[in-house]
Amino acid sequence: MSVNAIHQLPRGFLWGCTTAAHQVEGGNTNDWWRWEQTPGHIFQNQKAGRACEWWSGRFEEDFDRAASMHNNAQRISVEWSRIEPEPGKWDDYSLEKYRTMLKAMHQRGMTPMVTLHHFTNPLWLADDDGWEWDGTPERFTRFVRKVVETLGDLCSLWCTINEPMVYTTQSYIFGDWPPGVKKRNVAYKVLVNLLRGHTQAYHAIKEMQPHAQVGFANHNLNLRPTGNSPLHRPAMNVVDSFINNAFLLALRTGIVHLPGAGNVTIPHAQNALDWVGLQYYQEYEVGFDLRYPTSLFINQHKPHDMPVGPKKWGGLNPAAIYDQIAKLTKLIDKPIYVTEAGVPDPDDTIRPGYLIETIRAVWKAANFNFPVKGFFFWTLIDNFEWAEGFDPRFNFGLYKVNFDTQERIPRRSANLYGEICAANGLSSQMVATYAPSLLSSMFPGEAGAKEVKLKTNGNRVQNASSSPEKR
Ligand code: BGC
Repeated sequence: MSVNAIHQLPRGFLWGCTTAAHQVEGGNTNDWWRWEQTPGHIFQNQKAGRACEWWSGRFEEDFDRAASMHNNAQRISVEWSRIEPEPGKWDDYSLEKYRTMLKAMHQRGMTPMVTLHHFTNPLWLADDDGWEWDGTPERFTRFVRKVVETLGDLCSLWCTINEPMVYTTQSYIFGDWPPGVKKRNVAYKVLVNLLRGHTQAYHAIKEMQPHAQVGFANHNLNLRPTGNSPLHRPAMNVVDSFINNAFLLALRTGIVHLPGAGNVTIPHAQNALDWVGLQYYQEYEVGFDLRYPTSLFINQHKPHDMPVGPKKWGGLNPAAIYDQIAKLTKLIDKPIYVTEAGVPDPDDTIRPGYLIETIRAVWKAANFNFPVKGFFFWTLIDNFEWAEGFDPRFNFGLYKVNFDTQERIPRRSANLYGEICAANGLSSQMVATYAPSLLSSMFPGEAGAKEVKLKTNGNRVQNASSSPEKR
């Protein structure tokens, strides 16, 4: 009989999954919808189309799935283009539908976290230059006020903007996402307006709902210098301070630093944050490289391919989520929710081990007293993965979705996540079942006990040392 040791998370820890409106709802008409109409933008020219049919009601059955995994929270986003189809005109049907969704969460014992902007914009806003226009923060705040007025009795945990730096770079530096701009100076304008939008929304929510907890979701890359040369670390710091830290630090200091373009002060941004969301997926090496003059001689590359899965994804290092939590705490001492972590893995080959290593690192952070309050896995069900469309290589779901029939099939990781959430922790038994190769490094005592048992059984001797008190 062996000890079933358990890495216990604190009482009240939130466990859930994250989804985003455009990726699951179906039938949206926003700037992504328009982007999808142009061939070449999305994998195989696919369109989000019906997506996961949440808008026509399938959110109910998927919330049942989340509840069956013992999730006590759920993060969704609301779609601005539905709620405000024309400037200043509100769609009561859509607002009522989101009320129904939030009630459905409460009925299943799940605390809602609602994201107010997850990459998509109404067409009318996009036509007015979107986040490039200085009037957009004000319009965003008007929308946020309406949402809080309507949903505020059902939600007090708000996430203003999802991954502002990812949105800025994908849409305005790389041009891979709408509106497909590739201009650094425009990107800087957008970044400043996103900061203004967050700041104004933050203060508006707190005024309407003083007990609300308002944060945003920061995408963090785990960066390492390419090698020991003293030139590599400064190169890495340039990327780190912009991509990982710029938005966050602006909320600490009230000033955003724009590389090569000076500083901009954002009125009232300082301390406009109750918590920070950590979204961690990938690891990259960064270094100085004379072959890249156009990117300030900085080369960013992945240190290794994933053992399986798409080539178009960075290196995996799930345990480094601990370092990310520690780093965030140092940068801005606020409660942290892991608002996304996940892996593209259609056959669920590496996801169980990835999840186990991630949760162990989150446990370590929580038990070293870093203020981590919850974990939201990306994602509940396979969905529309932006420019990757429905490419199966980019299936992130705990549940596999057949997009022809809308059938959902649980992957093994769904069972594992259910066990983790039910136990509010990670046990050696779970590791032994779902990722046995990790057992000896994570629970060396248990693995050792098994070895002794095997050896002594071979000698026909009963092993007394492997019967500690069972928990
Ligand atoms: C985004 C999600 C996206 C996921 C996987 C995150 O950065 O918030 O919308 O699907 O990554 O790529």
